[in-house]
Amino acid sequence: MGYAGSGNAGKTVYEGLLKLEYRGYDSAGIAVLSGGKTELIKSAGRVEKLGVPAQKLGGTVGIGHTRWATHGKPNDVNAHPHRAGSVTVVHNGEIENYAELKAALIAKGEKFLSETDSEVIPRLINNFYEGDLLAAVVKCARMLKGSYALLAIRDGKEEIVAAKFRSPVILGPGDGCNYIASDEPALAGKCRSVCVLEDGDFAKITKDGFEVYDENLNPVRRGLTANEAREQSLVLCGYPHYMIKELWEAPAAVKNTLTAFGEVSGKVRAALDGAKKIIFTGCGTAYHAAMLGKRYFAEIPQISAEAEYAGELRYSPVYPCGKTVLIAVTQSGETADTVEAARLYRDAGATVIAVTNCPHSAISRIAHVVVPVCAGPEICVAATKSYSAQIAALLSMAASLVDGAHIPVDAGFAPELISETLENMDIYALAEMCARSRGVYFMGRGIDYAVALEGSLKLKEVSYIPGGGYPSGELKHGTLALIDGSTLSVFIITDEALAAKSMDAVEQTLSRGGMVAVITTLPQVQAQFSRRAEVIKLPECQKYIAPLSAAAALQLLAYRVAVILGKDPDKPRNLAKSVTVE
Ligand code: M6R
Repeated sequence: MGYAGSGNAGKTVYEGLLKLEYRGYDSAGIAVLSGGKTELIKSAGRVEKLGVPAQKLGGTVGIGHTRWATHGKPNDVNAHPHRAGSVTVVHNGEIENYAELKAALIAKGEKFLSETDSEVIPRLINNFYEGDLLAAVVKCARMLKGSYALLAIRDGKEEIVAAKFRSPVILGPGDGCNYIASDEPALAGKCRSVCVLEDGDFAKITKDGFEVYDENLNPVRRGLTANEAREQSLVLCGYPHYMIKELWEAPAAVKNTLTAFGEVSGKVRAALDGAKKIIFTGCGTAYHAAMLGKRYFAEIPQISAEAEYAGELRYSPVYPCGKTVLIAVTQSGETADTVEAARLYRDAGATVIAVTNCPHSAISRIAHVVVPVCAGPEICVAATKSYSAQIAALLSMAASLVDGAHIPVDAGFAPELISETLENMDIYALAEMCARSRGVYFMGRGIDYAVALEGSLKLKEVSYIPGGGYPSGELKHGTLALIDGSTLSVFIITDEALAAKSMDAVEQTLSRGGMVAVITTLPQVQAQFSRRAEVIKLPECQKYIAPLSAAAALQLLAYRVAVILGKDPDKPRNLAKSVTVE
C-alpha cells in the first residue's frame, strides 16, 4: 500500500493495510517520508499492532506492507519495509535468484539484516542510485528473476516508485493525493477508478499525479477502470466474522453470477464450439469447483473433460488433441499456479476461459473469454460464497452448451436452495462431534466426492483438525484403517444413482465402530441412518444443484467448529487469501 498526498501518510497507509490484511497477516510495517527523512515501524503480528505508532508517524508520503512469509520466519526483522542506505522498499512476490544476488552484494561489502529474498531489492536500488530513483528501480528490476510488486521511496524526495511483474499493482487517483496498492479493496471509499498496471510497468507516484513507464522509461498509457470494491463489503455489518457474513451472501453471489452469465453465454458457446478436450484447473477450493466443472461437462457426449491442480498442470507436458479448452477457476485471478497454467495453455494454442471473481486480475488478461463470478470482495481467507458462485458459473456453462438436453438443471432455484439450507439446518450437534474428533474424513461419490474434498479443506483450514476427503468406494482400499471410535466420517449423499453404493460405505464404517454423519438430500438415506448416525437432511433438489446446498452445510459446519474451538475462521494460521507466489 502506498500514499502520496498532504494528509497523514502513516494513518492512511495503516488504514489501507487493514483492508489488505486478508492477503497476509504474519507481520506488517510502514515507512513514511517526514521532513525529507524516512521513519519506519514494523512488527511481527497483525497490522493492528501498528495502529497507534502509525498515527504518530505522520508524513505525507508512505508505503506499507502486510506479509505472508515465503523466505524467513515471520519476525520483526523479516517484516517489510526493508531499508538499505537511503532507500526503503516493500515487496510482494518471490525473487527466485535472490541467493546469487545476495552473494554478489555480500562480496561487495553489503551487510544483510534479514533472511528475506526481498532485502536484495533495496540494496540493489541503493547501489544503482545516481540521482534518479525510477532509473535505479528499472536497473534493479532487470536483475530480478521471479515475481514482484514493489514500492520504493528514498530520503529527500516526496515520491514513490513502483515496479510490477507477475504480482498485481493498481494505482488510484484520490482527492489531492494518489494511492497505490496490491488490490482494489485497499482503495474502497478512496478512489472511484483505478489504473491496473501490466507486467513490465514502472510508475512514479506523487501528490500531484502518477505516470506509468516501460523499462526504457518511455511513458505508457494505461486507462482507468471503475473500482468495484465497496466499503460495505469490508465491514462486518454486525456479524462476528467475515466467514459467516460471506456464507450468508452466497445466495446473492449465485444469483448475480447466473444473471451475469447471460451476457457472456454467446462468447462461451463460441469458445467451446468444437472442443474435443476440456481441462479444468485451479488451486484449493477453486480446484474443487473445477472438479465439479469436470463432472458437469462429463455429461456432455463427445467431450473429454479432465480436472488437474494448476500447480501440477503447469509442469505437465501439453498435448493439444483437437481443439483444447482450458477452463481456469480462480477467485482472485492472481494465484500464481493458475495464472501460469493458463499462460502455458494459451501459448500452446489452447482456448482459455477464466472463471473469476476479479475482472481486473492477471487471469482476465490472459484468457480469451472471462466468465464473471459475481461474489463481491471475499475477505475471509476460507472461500465460501466465491465457491458457490463458481459452481453456478460452471453449471451455467455446461447447461448452456447443450441447451439443457443433457444437464436438465433449474439453476434459477439455486439461490433459494442455499438460503433454505442455511435457514433450516441444525448443525450444532455435528459441529460438537467434529470438535471432539481426532480426525474427520469426508466421503462421497461422483459429484459428492468433489464436494467432500471441499468440506474437508474447509474444516482443516479453519479448525486445524486433521482429516481428508475420499471417494466412498476408496474407503475399503486403505482409509478404513484410520476408523475407530475417535474418528468421524462425514458422508455426502445426494446422487440417487450412486446412493446405494455410498450407503454400503456408511455401513462398513459403522461396523468398525467409527462415528458417522450423513449429509443427504435423499429421504431413503435419512430413513436408513437416522438412528445410527448424525443425519443432516438437506432440501430435496436436482443432483446438479445439490453441491450448492451441501457446500453451504459444510461451510457452516466448518465455521461452527472453528468457533467452538476458539479459532479465528477469517485468518487461519499460516495462510493468505491470494497466493501470488509458487
Ligand atoms: O484465488 P484463488 O481462487 O485462485 O485461490 C485458490 C486457493 O488458494 C484458495 O481457494 C484456497 O484454497 C482457499 N483458502 C480455500 O478456502
